[in-house]
Amino acid sequence: MAEHVKIIFEDKTYKFPVVVGSEGERAIDISKLRRNTGLVTLDPGFANTGSCSSSITFMNGEKGILRYRGIPIEQLAEHSTFPETAYLLINGALPTRKELNHFSVMLNDQSLVHEDMRIFFQNFPRHSHPMGILSSMVNALRSFYPERHIIEEEINLIVIHLLSKVRTLSAMSYKISRGHRVVYPRHDFSYCANFLNMMFDNPVKPYQIDKEVVDALNVFWILHADHEQNCSTSAVRVVGSGRVNLYAAISAGIAALWGPLHGGANQAVIEMLYDIAKNGNNVARVVERAKDKKDPFRLMGFGHRVYKTYDPRAKIMKKMCDKVLSKLNTSDPLLDIAKELEETALNDNYFIEHNLYPNVDFYSGIILRAIGIPTNMFTVMFAIGRLPGWIAQWKESVDDPNWRISRPRQIYIGSPETKYIPIDER
Ligand code: SDX
Repeated sequence: MAEHVKIIFEDKTYKFPVVVGSEGERAIDISKLRRNTGLVTLDPGFANTGSCSSSITFMNGEKGILRYRGIPIEQLAEHSTFPETAYLLINGALPTRKELNHFSVMLNDQSLVHEDMRIFFQNFPRHSHPMGILSSMVNALRSFYPERHIIEEEINLIVIHLLSKVRTLSAMSYKISRGHRVVYPRHDFSYCANFLNMMFDNPVKPYQIDKEVVDALNVFWILHADHEQNCSTSAVRVVGSGRVNLYAAISAGIAALWGPLHGGANQAVIEMLYDIAKNGNNVARVVERAKDKKDPFRLMGFGHRVYKTYDPRAKIMKKMCDKVLSKLNTSDPLLDIAKELEETALNDNYFIEHNLYPNVDFYSGIILRAIGIPTNMFTVMFAIGRLPGWIAQWKESVDDPNWRISRPRQIYIGSPETKYIPIDER
């Protein structure tokens, strides 16, 4: 017998169905609430509101579970590559060897961007933030690749354009920002190796592809690939619900991710650790500041709307830090500070009572620093990783027969009706 809830309002009783997900999550279907009762709900930040039903990613915040299309993130991080995981998210199943080879060839074939796009880069002020550049350039891609997205083949081509060209644009942006010659993608390199080569190869010191670094980058991007209805994915769905082209929806996702409370946290974590190092490593003082309600400072890389335990991605990231640093035969004092900060916070009642644990951004910057990625490009690295998730969620929304334009309601608390007063009488 289907479950339901009853709402009693103004002496009338209303029943609303309870929907149950494949992992037992339950939600009240209020799609007829206003029509039947005249009421709307109010839920700032949507902490209690589901925007859609989805079969892409499952998270359990209490148990620290994350699965893409049912496959645990730990198994994908251990066995998969980023292109294979991107295929899984977008197409709903792991590819056969033949399908993966075709997908990889398509990504390589579409890895160049129109030469005229280089002029755009040269006109951004040198100090422009790479996330602002990337959001603009992704929108500009539509002008150079104006395929409609009516039939499956056109959509698939746009998807390949985005997955491949966003990676190329990001490396180009870095090279041009340094006044260096752009390095072109190579057909004989894998997706991740190509990115590293485009970023770091130069005529003075040719870049040596290191398998362990390529493997670390694959895992880094796998861990970022999707995360159900987070802020930037919700932005992609909301903007996409107006039936705008996919490039514009992804550009909105990049803009949403930029914020320091969201994807921008990976850059903010490193800046926080750097400040701690610069000011005498006083970790205890930083933890006290994070607890002080009068102080706007928050412990960046800590806390999560869904995870109320250790973010499973942070666990993998933390292990990877040690592996990458030892492989590159280097150390990072900021890692030692991060570990001390984690230790202090996880033993502090405030963090325990608030269920605040390291999230994906807490250790990710250490890996990026070891690879040589500049700090202001950390969130760009997050965006490249999140791209297949945004695309998969957009596709699922446009294919959903129940999908409508997103248009939330509000409760008005402003002035009652007021007469216009001519300016000379004010
Ligand atoms: C990402 O949604 C996703 O899935 C996002 C993401 C993804 O993959 O897409 O996982 C990526 O964005 C990870 C989060 C990166 N952001 C940060 O690391 C920034 C620092 N963290 C916070 O600002 C905060 O924890 C959020 C933004 C992540 C979550 O905010 P919520 O869910 O709105 O929680 P809240 O702000 O209401 O805080 C609840 C309580 C408050 O205390 P009380 O007023 O209840 O006493 O916890 C406290 C907060 O003050 N708190 C923190 C804290 N985070 C929450 N206190 C100190 N330091 C922190 N980091």
